[in-house]
Amino acid sequence: MPFPFPLDVRVPLYLAPMAGVSESPFRRLCRRFGADVVVTEFLSAEGIRRENPATIGKLRFGPEEHPIGVQIFGAEPAAMGEAAALVTDVFQPDFVDINFGCPVKKVVRRNGGSGCLKDLDLVEDVIRAVARNTHLPVTAKIRSGWNEEMRDPVTIALRCQDAGAKVLALHPRTRSQMYSGAANWDEIAAVVEALDVPVLGNGDIKTAGDAVRMHRHTNCAGVMIARGSFGQPWIFDQTRDLLEGRPMRPAPSVEERFRIALDHSAMAAAYEPDRRGAAIEFRKHLGWYVRGLPGSAELRKTLYAVNSHDEIAGIFDDYLRSRDRYEAAGPDGAPLETVPA
Ligand SMILES: Cc1cc2nc3c(=O)[nH]c(=O)nc-3n(C[C@H](O)[C@H](O)[C@H](O)COP(=O)(O)O)c2cc1C
Repeated sequence: MPFPFPLDVRVPLYLAPMAGVSESPFRRLCRRFGADVVVTEFLSAEGIRRENPATIGKLRFGPEEHPIGVQIFGAEPAAMGEAAALVTDVFQPDFVDINFGCPVKKVVRRNGGSGCLKDLDLVEDVIRAVARNTHLPVTAKIRSGWNEEMRDPVTIALRCQDAGAKVLALHPRTRSQMYSGAANWDEIAAVVEALDVPVLGNGDIKTAGDAVRMHRHTNCAGVMIARGSFGQPWIFDQTRDLLEGRPMRPAPSVEERFRIALDHSAMAAAYEPDRRGAAIEFRKHLGWYVRGLPGSAELRKTLYAVNSHDEIAGIFDDYLRSRDRYEAAGPDGAPLETVPA
């Protein structure tokens, strides 16, 4: 079966839903660097239907973000249906995605996220309730199960398909594993084999090469990248190069990387009404952008102290001016003169 919305490519590359990361500025940046589809972070159905301002604020997106999915979570089918109706009418994304993967205690305690995986009738009820309340395609993101005993991604995925999910993303770990161990790509291959709808492979893609290896290993219809996009949104363009048999474009130079980080920072500053809060939230991205650079430990320390987006350019300039010093020290090292003899 084809993807339920128009795409220019055969194997779409998705930016994964990520709380605190896949926000509008980062989604736009990733679209610019070749992400074909983006998804919002998970948003509580309760927060949406009660029109909680913080939740509704996270539903804003720009025209250049399409195709975009809004991800919702909750264990109350009626509330999920109501949230889907509001998202559809007011925000008009291209699809509504349901989160059956979140392992966080606060969420699973009320059977939200991966908590639903303990009760597959509930999973079906939630999907059906959402599908009844929107004309948009409904998609689902699952883990392999609640725990090792209940590990059965193929059954879970088939139940999602039966209930009306039009695309299924699998992060092949159980809830109990959280993020430990390796993502089991064989399980993605098994789900691809079992389902008629497109299956997205997700988990442990750190480089463009990993994305292509996952695609070959699983024959997944699309690839979903989460942590591998941190500080390197160009991973999408690089993956596209490899998928199409072209030589992979190199990662940007340090100067270019800083320009991209500053662009991202300007978008984040413009998006968030609370400029100081936005700068503090942005520190994590700064840490990711400088990962692996010579002297990055010290540079990161300085960047983690910023309280305003305006401070960032000066810190990058200082770094570039004293780069020779850092390069002599090697990755993550301190500048030579501070190393005790
Ligand atoms: C910071 C962070 C936030 C996340 N938030 C969400 C979320 O809101 N919804 C969701 O379905 N998955 C969420 N995930 C899981 C990712 O989408 C993805 O399934 C997981 O990180 C495995 O992929 P990766 O190895 O490419 O990182 C989150 C992951 C991270 C690291």
